[in-house]
Amino acid sequence: MNRDASTSWARYRESTDYLAQGSSTSSKVPTIEGIEPAQIVRGRGCRVWDADGNEYIDFRNALGPITLGYGVPEVNAAIAGQLDNGIIFGHPHPLEGEVARLLVECIPCAERVRFLKTGGEAVAACIKIARNATGRNRILQCGYNGWINTLSLGGFQPVGIAASQPHNGIPPAVSALHESLPWADIEAWKAAFAEHGDDIAAAVVACNYAEMEKGREFLPALRQLTQEHGALLIMDEIVTGFRLAMGGAQEYFEFVPDMAVFGKGMANGMPIGAYVGRADLIESARSIGISTTFGGETLSLAACKAVIGFYRENGVIAHLWATGTRLWEEVNGRFERAGCSLRLRGLAVCPNLQGEGDAVARFMKACYGNGVSFYHVPYVNYSHGEEDVEETLTRIDRAISAM
Ligand SMILES: Cc1ncc(COP(=O)(O)O)c(C=O)c1O
Repeated sequence: MNRDASTSWARYRESTDYLAQGSSTSSKVPTIEGIEPAQIVRGRGCRVWDADGNEYIDFRNALGPITLGYGVPEVNAAIAGQLDNGIIFGHPHPLEGEVARLLVECIPCAERVRFLKTGGEAVAACIKIARNATGRNRILQCGYNGWINTLSLGGFQPVGIAASQPHNGIPPAVSALHESLPWADIEAWKAAFAEHGDDIAAAVVACNYAEMEKGREFLPALRQLTQEHGALLIMDEIVTGFRLAMGGAQEYFEFVPDMAVFGKGMANGMPIGAYVGRADLIESARSIGISTTFGGETLSLAACKAVIGFYRENGVIAHLWATGTRLWEEVNGRFERAGCSLRLRGLAVCPNLQGEGDAVARFMKACYGNGVSFYHVPYVNYSHGEEDVEETLTRIDRAISAM
């Protein structure tokens, strides 16, 4: 295998004269000089290719959105069919209501739906709705909810944030209203509610990858706590939606938040986000001024409709669980036998790769060198078949030896 990624690095470097950081997504900025593919030029099924012609079995999946695979014919046909009829109009297109109905059918808390383009924006919409509905100001937050995380000091920050600038463009008076709290530590949340309970508008929660199973106790307990204090619970399902279950963590862990945000996996890579929830809350969006020109863009809606149909017909969730369980158990066995500190922890559909010192970085480098594109949250998609799993394990064996 030719593992020289120099062409993609040369092109990437050239782009940085015009494109800040060479990428609009901070976590996609390549870091392993010459070995990591600095730019990807195409994908098919569960594989991607760089500009040098190197092929990789892909577990980055665009950092979450690819749940079915690259270039899935059913989704491509839906997008192409709609493209012929126009992308976006000056009035709503029927697909907007149709896809909203499909989401109401598969998401427990969804009585109403509205569309946006990114996950972070959907979180911001829910926060505004919660403040309006409760007449309160404070927001408690957990995990990564997009770059809006920079509102709260000490929270999980996007890659590349300058530690020397704790406020990062946020006025202190604003960040004083946003507090980050730990995953699955209900006592910490009780303490926060005891201190500021009558001014807390909402808790916004994204699950922790490595310790996701703790959500089974934590999330229903938090549901109860927010209700006791008259605050709203906003579930961030940007990663968990269409992976743990179609309806996300709320379906998997069996609780009903007031609102939830979905994005990433819902259209297999087409840019779409949704904020969903109690009818009175989502209905308030218009009267409090949440709106965007591109909300009803039809190519993404057509893709989303095709994706939901594909999930229902092909048992996608079961496939993600079965493939992830088999693959990651095998990989963890290899880590153990090799005597290294690396382990994949959490649930099979979105585990977290952890290790001591620089073990994770060294492993990812060895993976790139052997044709596996890994990530600290590696995802399987529906296109990872049995043969791909076998081939991945062979390549990972080589990567572990190379370390
Ligand atoms: C759990 C979670 N919430 C929200 C977001 C933000 O979504 P977006 O990048 O589409 O704004 C992300 C993005 O990685 C995420 O992982």
